[in-house]
Amino acid sequence: MADLPSFAPIPAALPATVPFVGPEEMARGRGRDFTVRLGANELTLPPSPAVAEAIRRGAAEARWYPDSAAHDLRVALAAHFGYAPEEVMVGEGIDGLLGLVARLFLAPGQVAVTSLGAYPTFNYHVVGHGARLETVPYRGDREDPEALAARARETGARLVYLSNPDNPMGSWVSHAAVDTLAQAVPDDCLVLLDEAYAEFHTDADAVTPRGYRRPNVMRLRTFSKAYGLAGMRVGCAIGHPELVAGFDRIRNHFGVTRLSQIAALAALGDAEHLAGVVERVAAGRARLAAIAEANGLVPLLSATNFVTMDCGRDGDHARAVLRELLARDVFARMPGPAPLDRCIRIATGTEAELDVVAETLPEALRAVG
Ligand SMILES: Cc1ncc(COP(=O)(O)O)c(C=O)c1O
Repeated sequence: MADLPSFAPIPAALPATVPFVGPEEMARGRGRDFTVRLGANELTLPPSPAVAEAIRRGAAEARWYPDSAAHDLRVALAAHFGYAPEEVMVGEGIDGLLGLVARLFLAPGQVAVTSLGAYPTFNYHVVGHGARLETVPYRGDREDPEALAARARETGARLVYLSNPDNPMGSWVSHAAVDTLAQAVPDDCLVLLDEAYAEFHTDADAVTPRGYRRPNVMRLRTFSKAYGLAGMRVGCAIGHPELVAGFDRIRNHFGVTRLSQIAALAALGDAEHLAGVVERVAAGRARLAAIAEANGLVPLLSATNFVTMDCGRDGDHARAVLRELLARDVFARMPGPAPLDRCIRIATGTEAELDVVAETLPEALRAVG
């Protein structure tokens, strides 16, 4: 038999680990399902009823390839966010677009800058393209745009990643700080502004406005959070038309399925449903904060659909609390590196799901002691 063919050098040097072990895989590993699923910042409410209806009507079209230009969705997103269609590219969620951006902008050995403990899928794609990751610490549990810009200048970075609002802390920076960051990075450096949670924001001044344009900023939006379509894998990148056209050099042209496009278009059209979701998520945040406080934890202010809770001690303690929650079938997560790892992170669920959290969290804390 011939020898097993070897991988190319860059993937050969990578560990075979994707950024997250999902709740299904965790459940298979432990032989038991979770009672509540609040660890992946998914929406726990169903998407707009218009989505189910549109998928039902479109189901027979599943036999056709999707529109690889995602024309109708692209036009609708452009109008929604205040841009021309040429400034918008539809992709397989933000995660998929992050991979394409890394490929478009990073040659092996070049530098991308992010915050230590920020969204790991960005890091995964950077390293996956043989590029080098530089990190700066959070400051007061927020990402620090000044430090990101300074590190980008020191290292001649090609990409800077900022999530606003942020995962895993739920915190945010002002739009003015984002704009200053864009002016402070070196020439030939792209600022990637991940706005996965922007719909949940309660402070309008903090949100980057509709139609905001800077040639070196690319915004990323998703249907996975407020629109409740994480399983459909749809998002978009918004930026300068020449950069957006760059995706056509490398993208998976049929990656966003026909039914995903149909679902996203229907969701985008139901503003009333979205407003209801945002309201219920805000109520869920308030309840989660109250649950945290009732148990002696400090809920961090959040502009997202989750609340990060400071357990008041070190990472080992918070990891033990998380372990006890998981053992009681509550799927939650926590930030990775110190000092963020003194916290656990729980998404806003339905009333019934938060009842389970209210019951289980004190048990978990008692078990840890
Ligand atoms: C900051 C951030 N960006 C992107 C994503 C994933 O977005 P998508 O489902 O569109 O790939 C998440 C999901 O948790 C996230 O927290």
